[in-house]
Amino acid sequence: QAAGAGAAPWASAVFLNLIFWGVETEVDRSIQKVYKTYNGTNPDAASRAVDYVQRQLHCCGIHNYSDWENTDWFKETKNQSVPLSCCTETASSCNGSLAHPSNLYAEGCEALVVKKLQEIMMHVIWAALAFAAIQLLGMLCACIVLCRRSRDPAYELLITGGTYACEKTQASAF
Ligand SMILES: *[C@@H]1O[C@H](CO)[C@@H](O)[C@H](O)[C@H]1NC(C)=O
Ligand SMILES: *[C@@H]1O[C@H](CO)[C@@H](O)[C@H](O)[C@H]1NC(C)=O
Ligand SMILES: *[C@@H]1O[C@H](CO)[C@@H](O)[C@H](O)[C@H]1NC(C)=O
Ligand SMILES: *[C@@H]1O[C@H](CO)[C@@H](O)[C@H](O)[C@H]1NC(C)=O
Repeated sequence: QAAGAGAAPWASAVFLNLIFWGVETEVDRSIQKVYKTYNGTNPDAASRAVDYVQRQLHCCGIHNYSDWENTDWFKETKNQSVPLSCCTETASSCNGSLAHPSNLYAEGCEALVVKKLQEIMMHVIWAALAFAAIQLLGMLCACIVLCRRSRDPAYELLITGGTYACEKTQASAF
């Protein structure tokens, strides 16, 4: 019993780490592919997603803006420029030129995307836990009421108006 109680938090920590590690590897794999196929003039979803993420998260490249130099798009445009989505909001007349790196977001996107996804997943996990706790509490309350069944009219009212879930629990318990 004690071993079981001690294993629960340990198991959930392992589970969480596995999820987070999975997110990191998956983002790492996909982001390489997406940057490789970027095409600034194409309206394809992947390219627009790159521009969107760079603007929203204020980042440029995978680890930094130097990553753009290895993309086909960069080699094809031949003007030593990264996409305009790399330009900081404060930079005026930014044309994405690597000659003016101070106009570009310094941070890479991968770490920020991973952080954002992990944040969202934490929210989902907390919401699920809270939901489960509320359900458990509700069931417990209903069972206490039903198990202390008495002739008290107030209790009778509670029971007849009581939840279907509680009646089912009672039916399967007795
Ligand atoms: C970008 O990162 C690479 C390693 O990933 C590093 O060698 C390079 O100096 C960095 N560039 C800048 C401008 O920080
Ligand atoms: C981008 O797409 C255009 C057509 O939409 C194509 O002509 C061009 O070669 C593509 N560039 C790259 C780097 O794939
Ligand atoms: C470099 O070329 C691309 C594609 O032709 C263009 O969108 C971009 O504005 C150019 N950048 C500069 C600094 O000329
Ligand atoms: C980009 O803008 C800078 C000034 O911020 C300018 O010196 C450079 O010539 C421009 N590059 C291109 C390709 O237009």
